[in-house]
Amino acid sequence: MSTEKTIRWGVVGAGDIARRFGHGLAHAPDTQMAAVWSRRASTADVLAQQFGAQSCASLDELLSSDIDAVYIATLHDSHADYAIAGLAAGKPVLCEKPATVNAAQLERVLAVARDRQRLFMEAMKPPFYPLYRKLREHLADDPIGDIGFVRAGCSRADVPADHPTFSFEHMCGALLSIGIYEAFLAVDWLGAPLDVQTIGRLGSTGVDTFASLNCRHERGIAQLFCGLDLHGRGDALLAAPRGHVTIHENWWNPARATIRYVDGRVVELDHPFEGGGLNYETAHFCNLLRSGALESPVMTHAKSLQMITMMDAARAALGLKFAGE
Ligand SMILES: NC(=O)c1ccc[n+]([C@@H]2O[C@H](COP(=O)([O-])OP(=O)(O)OC[C@H]3O[C@@H](n4cnc5c(N)ncnc54)[C@H](OP(=O)(O)O)[C@@H]3O)[C@@H](O)[C@H]2O)c1
Repeated sequence: MSTEKTIRWGVVGAGDIARRFGHGLAHAPDTQMAAVWSRRASTADVLAQQFGAQSCASLDELLSSDIDAVYIATLHDSHADYAIAGLAAGKPVLCEKPATVNAAQLERVLAVARDRQRLFMEAMKPPFYPLYRKLREHLADDPIGDIGFVRAGCSRADVPADHPTFSFEHMCGALLSIGIYEAFLAVDWLGAPLDVQTIGRLGSTGVDTFASLNCRHERGIAQLFCGLDLHGRGDALLAAPRGHVTIHENWWNPARATIRYVDGRVVELDHPFEGGGLNYETAHFCNLLRSGALESPVMTHAKSLQMITMMDAARAALGLKFAGE
């Protein structure tokens, strides 16, 4: 029997990802959905009932209930406010991607986390998947040299026109909804961005529907794309002097990778994921919480800042500004 403390989660927002998070908890040991609050009581009630949690009438009620951590699962425009509210109430916060819509907001969130000495992490799932961790281990044991080029993309043409991703009011669009994953991959392998060049387009609702980025990083170059109006291929390439890696589609839910060495060897890694995938980042966050850590060593605050700085630069190039910017 486990002796770990059960982490009781309070969930803000009750849409698709909140439900997937709830299913994932069954695969993250010693966790429980304890409370839910969302804008509409009806959706919060349904989610709370499904997972045996309390449905709260207000954010304050959720934050003062018996919870150990807050998961923010609302749309982009409200992440920063709810993260700050959670941290200010003394709760550790796991916040859906993008953690905030711009770097200035993220600086404010991190300042509150530092001030209140509370754990904060952006819910960026790929690095916690078994395949991704296995890939890092494999490359440490049987290296291909320093990765100097990352090429990755995701473009979907099947998002319904009324989906919030197209909403200007909710500050969505391809870059902040999808491109943030590609920014993660570039930053994770190549370090901080130094220069971001972007070509793209805005759609009829005013948000970006396709963007192509060429980025110079501390340790190499990245070529990234994200879109909502073309059906693109979702694999990723990591290139190095003695070989290259393909993380097969969909690379952001990594399950399979091929490493091709210059000497002709080919290594296939195959590690299916369980529980929908969100469970790995959740388990990591819970372990950090139990150990008293204030920051993930994997999904660091610096990486989140670097990623959103890239998105800021890309949006600036497209002339896309949201309310308050
Ligand atoms: N990690 C991943 O794999 C992944 C995948 C998809 C999405 N996401 C992220 O998850 C977030 C939510 O996406 P989703 O697909 O779950 O969206 P969704 O299905 O539209 O759900 C959003 C939920 O948040 C609530 N909400 C929205 N704005 C709010 C506000 N200002 N105050 C209180 N509640 C609010 C909505 O309430 P109403 O019902 O009242 O509108 C709804 O319950 C996004 O930021 C997205 O980037 C992550």
